[in-house]
Amino acid sequence: MRRLLLAATAMLALVGSAVAQNFPARPVTIVVPFAAGGPSDVLARTLAERMKVALGQTVLVENVTGAGGSIGVGRAAKSAPDGYTISFGHLGTHVSNGAVYKLSYDLVTDLEPVVLLPSNPMVIVSKNAVPAKTLKELIAWLKERPAPAAAGTAGAGSGSHIGGIYFQNVSGVKLQYVPYRGTGPAMNDLIAGQIDVMVDQLSNSIQQVRAGTIRAYAVVDSKRAQSASDIPTTDEAGLAGFHMTLWSGMWVPKGTPKDVIAKLNAATVEAMNDPAVKKQLENLGLQLPPADKVAPAALGEWQKAEIAKWWPMIKAANVKVD
Ligand code: MLT
Repeated sequence: MRRLLLAATAMLALVGSAVAQNFPARPVTIVVPFAAGGPSDVLARTLAERMKVALGQTVLVENVTGAGGSIGVGRAAKSAPDGYTISFGHLGTHVSNGAVYKLSYDLVTDLEPVVLLPSNPMVIVSKNAVPAKTLKELIAWLKERPAPAAAGTAGAGSGSHIGGIYFQNVSGVKLQYVPYRGTGPAMNDLIAGQIDVMVDQLSNSIQQVRAGTIRAYAVVDSKRAQSASDIPTTDEAGLAGFHMTLWSGMWVPKGTPKDVIAKLNAATVEAMNDPAVKKQLENLGLQLPPADKVAPAALGEWQKAEIAKWWPMIKAANVKVD
């Protein structure tokens, strides 16, 4: 019996490594849990384009939206653990969502980390019609409103929503959150003046700020962004200590073979370090993860630390999801 068991185990190991050796034998899909045109979508598509070269296989991006990104993450988390479906996400979807929703999956035990992706500070922006020119004037303007100003988000538990809650907590303003399927569509309404403000990923706002179609007040960070050095920090603008970096990452379903995860990790790291990709991302204000933080385990440790850091504030905000 024991010999049979040993033979079966050896056979399984052989099959597993054979599967990994042939991976990917068909297109890989990255599930982005927000609408096309937003910062998650842009980052995923930029990397996917270069990952095709490294993997020698088509890499598709599928936008599966709703519920602050948790619909798309759920879809990916429940897919086959074979490496062909990747869960793209970030601080909002793979940390905050767990404190806001009763998820049908566990953000840690149902997913395996693949790689930490670039990060960027959040930025406080408004429609051009807002008369304020500084963060202090914006806070005064927001406090004077007869009804709470409209703040665009990518849904309850999204990065922009958590950024709004944090901004409310430190400034005393009241915001009325307007959920979109991503901050790409939300940005269109901010430019059109349909909503008033947003606490957005810098990578999503930076081109509009440069074009003058929206106004930036501060990057939510202790240091200025190299690619937007004219925007003051929250420390300089009067909200010292209000810092929020939105980092992204990729995961696969629990049970995905380690060799397959290693291949996806290597292809993504190669894509991030491609000079043209690196330049494109840095121009959007995105910073690559340090070299010692790109192993799969580093993302897992980072995600757990961020859960410990953010859940108390998010739970204290008592976010109601319809
Ligand atoms: C967020 O606010 O969670 C993201 O920026 C949404 C998105 O990437 O569209």
